[in-house]
Amino acid sequence: MSVALRGLAGKNVLITGAAKGQGFNHAKAFAEAGCDVALLDITHPLDDDMYAVATPEMMSAAVAAIEDRGQKGIPLPCDLRSENQIEDAIGKALAEFGGRIDVIVNNAGIAAMDTIHGMRSNVLHNIIDTNLKGAMFVTKYAVENMIGRRSGKIVNISSAVTGAAPAMLSHYAASKYGINGLTKAWAMELSEFGINVNAVCPATVKPGEGQGSGMVLGLAPDLEMGADDAFDHFSAANNMDGEMWRAEMQHITDAVLFLASDNAEMITGAILPVDCGHMAR
Ligand SMILES: NC(=O)c1ccc[n+]([C@@H]2O[C@H](COP(=O)([O-])OP(=O)(O)OC[C@H]3O[C@@H](n4cnc5c(N)ncnc54)[C@H](O)[C@@H]3O)[C@@H](O)[C@H]2O)c1
Repeated sequence: MSVALRGLAGKNVLITGAAKGQGFNHAKAFAEAGCDVALLDITHPLDDDMYAVATPEMMSAAVAAIEDRGQKGIPLPCDLRSENQIEDAIGKALAEFGGRIDVIVNNAGIAAMDTIHGMRSNVLHNIIDTNLKGAMFVTKYAVENMIGRRSGKIVNISSAVTGAAPAMLSHYAASKYGINGLTKAWAMELSEFGINVNAVCPATVKPGEGQGSGMVLGLAPDLEMGADDAFDHFSAANNMDGEMWRAEMQHITDAVLFLASDNAEMITGAILPVDCGHMAR
């Protein structure tokens, strides 16, 4: 018996926020494991520019990266704040995949920093609509084929902030605590259909320009810091002591692929920290 990840080759995977950042890294890894990938992402800026999101060029590059790995890449331009757009995008994915989605990765997310008394209403709506309701609606429209086939894996991306929520991130923390809650509820609801539902809680992830991880880039201006300093600031405040405790995208991708594989068959309802020890502190 091999200890390599089992059961991924030939799977159809749907990833949200797949044209950049961690979602793009997960997409490439699934393609390398022999999966076809539907890449759902917004491809126009948010009206208020509160957070830098993917572009049409990033979507094209992401599809090309999947095809370069010998797999089918399906572009799904979609704003997760719109239920109608989600329903259309999932319909397109199901049509392209012959009616079968084996793995859903609810990864898309945005963040900003606000005090509760200075909470910007548009920012609150955007964060809850994208991070929490987006995952709800994607799964609502994508899970039925899994139920019918009595098989499937759902991996939700939460955050280490659900171990100890920092100041000025209450909208973001609430969205991610919500992700933990729905992960457990879906695990209960979907267990009779052989569907595993788990969440991964990343630590602060090393940021990168372009298609690199963007969340720390997005928060750095609020801290009046550059992205690298903001990464060090969050990591030093939350992680286990020492420079070795620094997270990069691949650390998160490894956990996502494990939970989507047959190796994780008996794991459901788990909230898995990949958090450099944040939650243990
Ligand atoms: N980077 C970190 O330090 C960190 C830490 C913990 C958790 N996370 C979580 O990991 C996930 C990925 O973060 P990242 O660093 O790769 O961020 P990122 O900004 O690089 O990627 C976010 C993705 O979500 C997409 N997106 C945003 N709004 C959307 C919308 N309305 N509709 C469709 N797609 C939309 C973006 O276009 C982008 O592709 C997020 O859920 C985030 O909350 C990140």
